[in-house]
Order: sequence, then structure tokens, then C-alpha cells
Amino acid sequence: MYNGGKIFIGLIIFVGLLILPFYLSMGKAIAKPDPKVDTPVIKQMAVKQCVESKDFMKTAHMQMLNDWRDSVVREGNRLYTAADGKSYDMSLQNTCMKCHSNKKQFCDECHNFVAVKPYCWDCHLMPKEGA
Ligand code: HEC
Ligand code: HEC
Ligand code: HEC
Repeated sequence: MYNGGKIFIGLIIFVGLLILPFYLSMGKAIAKPDPKVDTPVIKQMAVKQCVESKDFMKTAHMQMLNDWRDSVVREGNRLYTAADGKSYDMSLQNTCMKCHSNKKQFCDECHNFVAVKPYCWDCHLMPKEGA
């Protein structure tokens, strides 16, 4: 005779093990990144805005950084004129990281979530942050 009870318990454990990884990753999938824009430089801005609109920056900052680098390194042009007419020095360190001096709570907050690791910091200086 088969032992129905043991098979049933075995089945429950089996199904439980199947579901476990999904269950454990549930919390992580829900916890959205929360990039902080409360650095000293940004706090002093009358109008808190980025180089371009927030939506643009969110989706296109990687492309923008590429364009900036090409412009500086290949064409020797360091001046970027934004859609609103303001000018910026095309520099990762001196422009982006001056406002976003909290790399860990800002850039990394999103990048860790989507598991990208820009290699820029091999060469470019990171902003100095307390630990
Ligand atoms: C003059 C200060 C300043 C500079 C320079 C600046 N930022 Fe920003 N950035 C901000 C502020 C303020 C916000 C929040 C804007 C808002 O909430 O509308 C922001 C928002 C962003 C966002 C969107 C964050 C989100 O929550 O979706 C990204 C991405 C970003 N910046 C990247 C960059 C990069 C890359 C550079 C350099 C090319 C840069 N920023 C330069 C001040 C700046
Ligand atoms: C609102 C979330 C968010 C913030 C804040 C943010 N990033 Fe990103 N970043 C992303 C996402 C998402 C990608 C991946 C895009 C893709 O793979 O298509 C990315 C990709 C990049 C890449 C390209 C990396 C690669 O390997 O393709 C660079 C460079 C980069 N980010 C620089 C920065 C810098 C510098 C900052 C801080 C000043 C910053 N990002 C802040 C979301 C963010
Ligand atoms: C192998 C070293 C190296 C790596 C890695 C690197 N860069 Fe650069 N980058 C340079 C050098 C050298 C310059 C030229 C500096 C100058 O002319 O002022 C430069 C210039 C730039 C500039 C324009 C000038 C400035 O002051 O910022 C931008 C923007 C830039 N890089 C962005 C990036 C981004 C974004 C990444 C990562 C996706 C990256 N770089 C990775 C070496 C590097």
C-alpha cells in the first residue's frame, strides 16, 4: 500500500520549494528605488530642476552623458545649451556630480535596482561622501 499521508506532505513541501524563490523576491520587486535630490547645492536652488526636464533625465541621461563626452573629447566643445536656454559645462564631475553629490543615494539607488554598474568611476572622481 502507498502511504497517502506521506505523499501528500511530500507534495506540499515540493510545491512550497517551487514557490519559495518567488515569495522571497516579492519584497525586492516592490521596493522601488528612491533617488534623493536633497544635496546642499540642490537645497540652495530657487527652482529645483535638472539640466533638462525630469522625464528627459530619467530616460535619457545615459545618452546625454555619451553625447557630452563625445562633444568634449572629439570636438573640444564644452558648452551645452539646454532647452530652456541655460548653459552648462559638459562635465560629469563638475556639473552632474556638483548637484548630485550624493552618488550612493542618487545614482546608485537606481543603478543597483536595475543592476547596471557604469564603469565611469574607474577614471572619473566620485564625489566625496561620508562613508
Ligand atoms: C543644477 C543642479 C543639477 C545639475 C547640474 C544636474 N542635476 Fe540632475 N537633477 C537636479 C534636480 C533638482 C533634480 C530633480 C528634478 C525634479 O524633481 O524635477 C534632478 C533630477 C535628475 C534625474 C531624475 C531623477 C528621478 O528621480 O527620476 C536624473 C537621472 C538626473 N538628475 C541626472 C543628472 C545627470 C546625469 C546630470 C549631468 C548630466 C545632472 N543630473 C545634472 C539637479 C541637477
Ligand atoms: C531615476 C533612476 C536613475 C538615476 C537617479 C540615475 N540613473 Fe543612470 N541609469 C538608470 C537606468 C535605468 C539605467 C540603465 C538603462 C539601460 O540599461 O537601458 C542607467 C544607466 C546609466 C548609464 C549607462 C550605464 C551602462 O552601462 O549602460 C550611465 C553612464 C548612468 N546611468 C549614469 C548616471 C549618473 C552619473 C547618475 C547620477 C548623477 C545616474 N545615472 C542616476 C537610472 C538612473
Ligand atoms: C578609461 C578612463 C575613462 C572612463 C572609464 C570613462 N571616462 Fe569619461 N573621460 C575620460 C577622459 C580622460 C576624459 C577627458 C577629460 C577632459 O578632457 O577634461 C573624459 C571626459 C568625459 C566627459 C566630458 C568631460 C568631463 O569633465 O566630464 C564626460 C561627460 C565623460 N567623460 C563621461 C563618462 C561617462 C558617463 C563614463 C561612464 C559610462 C566615462 N566617462 C568613463 C576618461 C574616462
